[in-house]
Amino acid sequence: MKFALVPAAGSGSRMGTSIPKQYAMLCGEPMIRHSIETLCGFSAISRVYVVLAENDVRWKEYDWSAFGDRLVALNCGGKTRLNSVMNGLRAMDAGDDDWVLVHDAARPCIDHESLQRLIEGTENEAIGGILALPVADTLKREDGKGRIAETVPRAKLWQAQTPQMFRKGRLLDALSKAPADQTDEAGAMEALGYSPRLILGDPGNFKVTYPGDMMLAEMILKGRMGK
Ligand code: C5P
Repeated sequence: MKFALVPAAGSGSRMGTSIPKQYAMLCGEPMIRHSIETLCGFSAISRVYVVLAENDVRWKEYDWSAFGDRLVALNCGGKTRLNSVMNGLRAMDAGDDDWVLVHDAARPCIDHESLQRLIEGTENEAIGGILALPVADTLKREDGKGRIAETVPRAKLWQAQTPQMFRKGRLLDALSKAPADQTDEAGAMEALGYSPRLILGDPGNFKVTYPGDMMLAEMILKGRMGK
């Protein structure tokens, strides 16, 4: 079986807003609802688990009944994203061999075509895979004083996105051996010597991080609704 796990226990401090960014309003809905709608509406995924902060007060302000038992909220967020994902993996009702697609609540523009590519490209892999994009821009490394130290060749460089799809047992094992500031699941698998598959993502599936990102996400979502 395949499940989605959505870590949504962050504070979103880089957004500069008083409410955590997963609850920032986007096209009339809290940001997290867009990912939940897409994931719950994708039939290959049996259930969607959302990991909330222990002191979350906003989830209950909204009506989630439309998703029925396909959506389960867990109040077990941790100090870091890694802690939230690990707590969620431990709390969810899934076997060690079940696939888990870990998806950031902060990527509201995930689409069914990307999910389909991820699942088709990963389910026959021994380890798992992630959505990612080949880097398009020229990359510069800074010297620490605001000037360019060097140009980094972009050949073979990819930007990691989510979902990242791994079998639950192996993922939990890898995350439990990773440093607390590990920012993605694939990195923890790589540290154990595994090479997850790279699956072509979509530029629209970017992570809302800075205030200006909200407008871009709105444009993408409105463009889709207008189709
Ligand atoms: O802060 P950042 O954008 O990297 O967070 C990525 C995702 O991880 C967000 O969906 C955020 O809510 C989640 N997160 C979490 N628990 C934390 C920190 C972040 O679930 N302690």
